Amino acid sequence: MVLNTLLPLVVLLPAALVAHSVPRHMHYGRSLNTAAPTPWVAHGCFTDKLTARTLSNISYADQRSMSIDACTAFCDTRKLAYAGVEYGRECYCGAALSPTGARANTGDCNMPCTGNSAQVCGGGYRLQVYLNAPAIPATAPASAGHGGRWNYLGCYTDSVAARTLPNGTHIVGTMTADKCASTCQSMGFALAGTEYSRECWCGNTLGTASTANNCDMPCSGNRTQICGGGNRLTTSTSSDFTLQAVFRDGAPPVALSVLDVSVHTAILSNCTTCAPPYDSLDLINGVFHTVQRKVGAVPGVSPAPTAGEALTLTYAAHVETFSGSCTMASPAGSALLAAHARHDLWSLCPNTTADGRNDIVWAPRTGHPHYALRDCKPVDLVVEYCEEEEGYEEDEME
Ligand SMILES: *[C@@H]1O[C@H](CO)[C@@H](O)[C@H](O)[C@H]1NC(C)=O
Ligand SMILES: *[C@@H]1O[C@H](CO)[C@@H](O)[C@H](O)[C@H]1NC(C)=O
Ligand SMILES: *[C@@H]1O[C@H](CO)[C@@H](O)[C@H](O)[C@H]1NC(C)=O
Ligand SMILES: *[C@@H]1O[C@H](CO)[C@@H](O)[C@H](O)[C@H]1NC(C)=O
Ligand SMILES: *[C@@H]1O[C@H](CO)[C@@H](O)[C@H](O)[C@H]1NC(C)=O
Repeated sequence: MVLNTLLPLVVLLPAALVAHSVPRHMHYGRSLNTAAPTPWVAHGCFTDKLTARTLSNISYADQRSMSIDACTAFCDTRKLAYAGVEYGRECYCGAALSPTGARANTGDCNMPCTGNSAQVCGGGYRLQVYLNAPAIPATAPASAGHGGRWNYLGCYTDSVAARTLPNGTHIVGTMTADKCASTCQSMGFALAGTEYSRECWCGNTLGTASTANNCDMPCSGNRTQICGGGNRLTTSTSSDFTLQAVFRDGAPPVALSVLDVSVHTAILSNCTTCAPPYDSLDLINGVFHTVQRKVGAVPGVSPAPTAGEALTLTYAAHVETFSGSCTMASPAGSALLAAHARHDLWSLCPNTTADGRNDIVWAPRTGHPHYALRDCKPVDLVVEYCEEEEGYEEDEME
């Protein structure tokens, strides 16, 4: 009786205010489960604010039956790529993580879910985030379609026992060539293949497949496109581009490479003796990606650049997008690598701690430990896309 009368009062309290009242000494066991149903993958524990939600699209609270499964299912039906549980009983969804949320210690997300005490559902002001890994980003890249910067590769054999492209995807609704390409691109893969009218497979190598000529099933979402056949994959590859540093003072341009500087990071440099291990460079939703077409190779992705620092690429399958733009057009019409709608903040700076190697730096500053500002030369980063193939759809149709 007492509980029943108190409960509505508790529910009416703003959830984040309640979070403040969690006593510091309340710690929960470490054996709690954080697993989410596929295709959702754990993305980490993040800070959250009452005034600026880390996931801000839609939310609900449930005193009795919140769980990771319930929250991810809720966000799934709304086709939002991120789901987050907090304070045991709250569920938040969003198309992207707000930059106001920062990564927190995993141990901060430690409260059992109200609907499943074996699962963790975040903490006080701590959002435990899940990513619908193969979900189509809310802002699907216009460049990721058969008509865009993906090239038709061919019709290839496939089998259930030995997949030609190993990474299956979960795509909501019907299939089109563009949906599959953008999904594979968002997962950092260089190859995309549609099969049996409605399936989408991704990967970085073609396995043991051989070419075939009977990809003959129309896509379930666009009858004028071909989406493979029975054990047949219509395969596309993301076209890559080269980057040139064009000096503002008119000095001859230099080619840039992606250069590994540690196990986890890479930077852009004009070093020619350091051969780039990357087969494909891509721009997806403002994030610069590298793809290595080797089995098990992890793609490199760039978070937004930091003033004064090299443009760092980290090896991870996903990175939050930022409010930048992929490229901007120069007055001469060439595509320039840009971030936060600026293409004019890049410089090539001799890195004094790396034997004078010339590295790309975003908005160089004085007093940096790795370079002297006076030696930095302002550059534009010109993106040159490879040639596209045309007319394959018609060839395939007849
Ligand atoms: C929530 O997401 C949907 C689908 O992406 C979008 O149409 C809507 O504007 C979003 N609402 C808010 C409040 O962000
Ligand atoms: C892709 O498939 C390979 C082989 O099955 C697997 O090792 C890898 O983890 C998968 N990658 C992703 C991102 O699902
Ligand atoms: C269907 O595919 C054709 C050929 O690729 C394309 O021109 C057309 O825009 C697509 N239609 C839709 C609705 O996506
Ligand atoms: C790299 O750029 C510098 C100018 O900043 C230039 O002097 C040097 O020759 C370039 N090196 C290569 C290998 O292109
Ligand atoms: C300079 O080189 C070091 C070592 O490779 C690297 O860690 C650092 O990011 C570089 N710094 C800049 C600003 O280029």
